[in-house]
Amino acid sequence: MKKLKILVPLAIVVAFFVSLAMAQEQFEFMPKGGSMLLLEVLDSSSTDDIVSVVTAKRTQEEWEAYFTDQESALKDLTEKEVKTLVAYLAINMPIPEEEIPKETEKIDWVTFLPSDGWLLTLETCMNCHGLDAALIEERELVGWGTLFGGHDHVILPLTKQQWATLEYYLAINMPIPEEDIPEEMWGAPPSY
Ligand code: HEC
Repeated sequence: MKKLKILVPLAIVVAFFVSLAMAQEQFEFMPKGGSMLLLEVLDSSSTDDIVSVVTAKRTQEEWEAYFTDQESALKDLTEKEVKTLVAYLAINMPIPEEEIPKETEKIDWVTFLPSDGWLLTLETCMNCHGLDAALIEERELVGWGTLFGGHDHVILPLTKQQWATLEYYLAINMPIPEEDIPEEMWGAPPSY
């Protein structure tokens, strides 16, 4: 079993990674996304090697059972975090083996893993209005799908998997308490 190491400041060579690390601190008030949770779980438990995890195809239920079988790898996660993690994995895995570099110990998994809902929200949702639009809405999965299928959002250049990742992340985790959202993240309220 190989233990995953996220070499925090040492490996900061890629600008993207720097901004991601900074963003993680600045946006800690947002619920964690699936890739972040996956790295935490693998780092804190004796699950299989990360490559065998990300090249496996499982449903959400199978992912949950898989981790539960592994010496309760999910014990430090809240119920919402478990749902976020298994939805992320069911949507985004398997990563085709040919896309994974041979020298797996050199992979920076933080940037290599498909974007999770946390990152997609930050990258996408502040381009036209405040982040609060995403964070204070209470919608079921279908409701998010309907919103994103409408003319205001359907133009966004996301893949099917990214939309699904985002929809699950938002449906599971939102709304968050308004007082948790820093003042500078509030934008103009949507106007019709
Ligand atoms: C291309 C621009 C654009 C981007 C990017 C964008 N939106 Fe919007 N969004 C709009 C527009 C336009 C409206 C209509 C209201 C308004 O005038 O602001 C809207 C409204 C909303 C509303 C309120 C809708 C309602 O009926 O209550 C929510 C919620 C929302 N967006 C969520 C999101 C989320 C989550 C993201 C990130 C995936 C996002 N938006 C990204 C343009 C955008």
